Amino acid sequence: MSTDMRTPRGLGARRWPKFAVVAAISALVLGGCVRNAPQDALKPRGSVSRQLNNLFVPVFWIAVVVFCLVAGLVLFCIVRFRARSDDEAPKQIHGHTRLEITWTIIPALLLAVIAVPTVLTVFDINRIPTNAMQVAVTGHRWWWQYDYQDTADPSKVLFSTANELHIPAGQKVVISLTSVDVIHNFWPPALAGKVYAIPGRHNRLVIEADHPGTYYGQCAEYCGLSHANMRLRVIADTPQDFQTWMQSQEQGPVQPSSADATAGLQLFTGGTGCSGCHTITGISSGLTGPNLTHFKSRSVFAGSIFDNTDPNLRAWLRNPPAEKPGSVMPNLNLSEDQITKLVAYLDTLR
Ligand code: CUA
Repeated sequence: MSTDMRTPRGLGARRWPKFAVVAAISALVLGGCVRNAPQDALKPRGSVSRQLNNLFVPVFWIAVVVFCLVAGLVLFCIVRFRARSDDEAPKQIHGHTRLEITWTIIPALLLAVIAVPTVLTVFDINRIPTNAMQVAVTGHRWWWQYDYQDTADPSKVLFSTANELHIPAGQKVVISLTSVDVIHNFWPPALAGKVYAIPGRHNRLVIEADHPGTYYGQCAEYCGLSHANMRLRVIADTPQDFQTWMQSQEQGPVQPSSADATAGLQLFTGGTGCSGCHTITGISSGLTGPNLTHFKSRSVFAGSIFDNTDPNLRAWLRNPPAEKPGSVMPNLNLSEDQITKLVAYLDTLR
């Protein structure tokens, strides 16, 4: 007895690739419907992002009307002028001057109209306010450095921090953006548009948050192995909280008191090599990695990918490249005892 080889058995092997493509596209499109997406440029939370959104929305709807019109006309023509028999030649309209002028002038007029608010917005968001607070932002593979500058004398750096950018809510802050290695791109979508961080250049952008809160962002230019791990947070504080934060950041580190923390400080400055790459005010002056003077005042570390907890810190110190691929910080082959002491010391840096 022979069996029928054509019995349907679910999704045939040949339909598989089609199904996978449809599923992938559906997932991508439906991803846009997620509620509470923290990096949504369409939900502006500051003056600059609102200006960009006010430009985007009308241009988007004009594009929707143009798309429907063009697609509708194409569909209409396909149906209305389809070949009804093989020997019937279609009517030729090549060289229809009036039609060609019409479809040249309408887009040109549309673009001219859109250009007015576009150019005004471009100039407006690039207007640098005087007397605003200034922060020099530097992209590294793969983390962000923030140097807070003296408003009166921007060449003077008050203190340096990393990954979490604190700003006062309701105030414009001027950011001067550069990079020490490759091209990065600074992008907190709810507050501002993307701006490139380019070695040797200083691009400026203005950011402002309407209300206190935490705003997520990330590097938006492919910059190597851990590009996806190069995230950032902008924390908008009330003006009062911001002043308190500034004052604490300008202080030096506290002297560790426990035995473990004191031993950790000795390890930090001693044989481990930590001090060659990290600055702690008054203790070391390395510039390769983030300034750690107030490391524990930050809620995240390593390009904002890990919560700043002891277990995460232990895992990080055990083998940084395993936690963040390509990490410049190497595996120092620290013993568990050394890690305990270093974590105890880092915990004092508040
Ligand atoms: Cu830095 Cu992508």
